Amino acid sequence: MKIIGSSNARVGLPLGMAVLRKGGSALDAVELAIRAVESNPLDHTVGLGGLPNLLGTVELDASIMDGTTRAAGAIGGVHRFEHPISIARRVMQELPHAFLVGEGAERFARECGFEEVDLLTEEALEMYARGLRQGGVEAPFADAVLRALVGRLATQPDRVSGKEAGKDAGTVNVLALDQHGNLAAGVSTSGFAWKYPGRVGDSAVIGAGNYCDSRYGAAACTGRGEMAIRASTAHTVVTHLRSGAGPQESGRRAMSDLSDFADPYFSSMNCVVLAPDGNHAAFSTLETATYVYMDSQSKDVQEEPRTHVPWLAGA
Ligand code: GLY
Repeated sequence: MKIIGSSNARVGLPLGMAVLRKGGSALDAVELAIRAVESNPLDHTVGLGGLPNLLGTVELDASIMDGTTRAAGAIGGVHRFEHPISIARRVMQELPHAFLVGEGAERFARECGFEEVDLLTEEALEMYARGLRQGGVEAPFADAVLRALVGRLATQPDRVSGKEAGKDAGTVNVLALDQHGNLAAGVSTSGFAWKYPGRVGDSAVIGAGNYCDSRYGAAACTGRGEMAIRASTAHTVVTHLRSGAGPQESGRRAMSDLSDFADPYFSSMNCVVLAPDGNHAAFSTLETATYVYMDSQSKDVQEEPRTHVPWLAGA
């Protein structure tokens, strides 16, 4: 039994581990752990309290994957629902689809009985407005200027990103291995702060920010989602695991693939990896990033440094 995640998964891991200790499924553990992060208003990168898009609307992406069946569910660009991870799971389980976006995803969430809530907290609204001011932008602004604004805000030196405080950038990753040898992976995010409306990141893209196969391992990403989409990072990690490399080598190779990608908006890239034998590893382009985990013996959440894989294109 093992559960690992990005450092902001700390609030959810004990709940996930409790599921695993009772003989519950890796999928249940992942969903429950992520729901706790989605409900944490102090986390400005996931769910309630997440930073909004350029127009001030909190817009969420999430995905979940069952490593045993390789079934997956994902939603992108969803407003007003606190638990996108649970909606993604319902997509996986109840529809002949793997990925819903926008209005259709919201319609499906309502049909499933998920409650609509206001996700924009006062603190997140203040951070959003402060970001606009620092970028020299005054809301409301004309739609015609959005294209220019998104670039300007994305390059602000102190925007919320992986550079801030050396943390792995926002978004939550949780990977779990249950008593029966099943792996599951989940990712949830409010995405790139001040993003262009409709932008969907890697968290909702199976293969980019999330991939899981109980035979070989699971991987998930945080950070600059466009990078993980360009390099199919999570699937690449699992492909290396499949070829016989261990979690440390597989993650390092996948991260190295994107180290020379040019990107003027680069913040950081990070991934976590869990093998079917419970071995795990985590990586970051930041020097001081950490990740968290628990196993069957853990009393508390353990935190470890990630392996540093520099982003050479920006060095
Ligand atoms: N990795 C989360 C995002 O780019 O939206």
